[in-house]
Amino acid sequence: MAETTDLLDAGERLGAQELRALQLERLRAQLGHAYANVPFYRESFDKAGVHPDDCRSLADLARFPFTTKADLREHYPYGMFAVPRERIRRIHASSGTTGRPTVVGYTDDDLSMWADMVARSIRAAGGRPGDTVHVAYRYGLFTGGLGAHYGAERLGCTVIPASGGMTARQVQLIQDLKPGIIMVTPSYMLTLLDEFERQGVDPRSTSLRVGIFGAEPWTEGMRREIEERFAIDAVDIYGLSEVIGPGVAQECVETKDGLHVYEDHFYPEIVDPITGEVLPDGERGELVFTSLTKEAMPVIRYRTRDLTRLLPGTARTFRRMEKITGRSDDMVILRGVNLFPTQIEEIVLRTPGVAPHFQLRLTREGRLDALTVRAEARPDATAETRDDAARAIAAAVKDGIGVSVAVEIVEPESLERSVGKIRRIVDLRPS
Ligand code: DLL
Repeated sequence: MAETTDLLDAGERLGAQELRALQLERLRAQLGHAYANVPFYRESFDKAGVHPDDCRSLADLARFPFTTKADLREHYPYGMFAVPRERIRRIHASSGTTGRPTVVGYTDDDLSMWADMVARSIRAAGGRPGDTVHVAYRYGLFTGGLGAHYGAERLGCTVIPASGGMTARQVQLIQDLKPGIIMVTPSYMLTLLDEFERQGVDPRSTSLRVGIFGAEPWTEGMRREIEERFAIDAVDIYGLSEVIGPGVAQECVETKDGLHVYEDHFYPEIVDPITGEVLPDGERGELVFTSLTKEAMPVIRYRTRDLTRLLPGTARTFRRMEKITGRSDDMVILRGVNLFPTQIEEIVLRTPGVAPHFQLRLTREGRLDALTVRAEARPDATAETRDDAARAIAAAVKDGIGVSVAVEIVEPESLERSVGKIRRIVDLRPS
């Protein structure tokens, strides 16, 4: 423990009082910066009848209006920037699966802060200067690859910029270059697992000792599976491009008890997703972020649509967020019952005979929506084990979530594998 404390940076060493004071000072400056330099914020604050000077305590933030993904899209591409374009050193963009992409920009100082946050994250995960880090998040407009890359360099690590895809070569690189740390989506880690086995290499025998997994929801069941199959520590990293990318919150390897939010740069709130009312710590709701130090693209009360709750700090002073249950967009409403893919993941992963690969198919039968859980059999599962597994999954969904679903146990290696963020829901309902 003493060694870890020595390594903490200035932000991580702040006491609770100092942290709150710093947040307020930064919040006031960030609100002022947004108001003065982004016409969208000026209009939305004016319309809500609030001015940056009205923010005298952290609680006053609740008086300011929310910002949504739709607002970012409407101001595509550069309308949310608070500095002249020449000061923007880099652009990233979110995938835009549901419409126009969202473009985000960074100044030199923003990139430096981001690298600091990812360096802090890797250190919290157990990484140290001199470690070799294999980055298998995609490089490009997605923030995963370059975000992890510069953070690892900032910490003083050797980086292997593998990016996503070319799975056979990834396994080769891990064998030859002997990284201690891998940064990748949990679903792509499972694809790598298959490939290790295909090449006849014991995944437990590699040089890897820590995996830093994020960019998609994953469960405690998945953590156990990955830790066991690879003999590594698996920890969670969270972030979103609108805020910076990876490095907004990170789980500490010594506690593995949720993610410490890097509150000296990103102020979190939990709100009721319907009413927008701020909820007290400990209650579940939608995570909302306000940046505290960003230059190029300050975000004020940005609605992430991610569902979680805030808990007191443990290994750090910063508050923790519980592992994300899912996004409000990924919630399936089946005959009036709300269901998240992570709930199915927990069930699938504790069912004997099934592999950690599953898909949710939504169909419509007459006027009713139906859900089929398709889960892959483990290679050694007998016909009887498969039948038992199908029954066990259906019963667990019925008992635990309260809705009936169909379950199909499919052949090993028959479901599509992830190369980045996995898509769990296949929606075959007529639109
Ligand atoms: O996924 C940034 C990132 C890259 C985070 C690499 C971690 C590692 P976006 O593409 O903008 O950015 O997607 C952000 O992904 O709002 C969540 O819904 C989801 N997400 C990210 N990390 C986690 C996580 C990156 N650890 C969106 N657990 C977010 C659950 C996550 N969901």
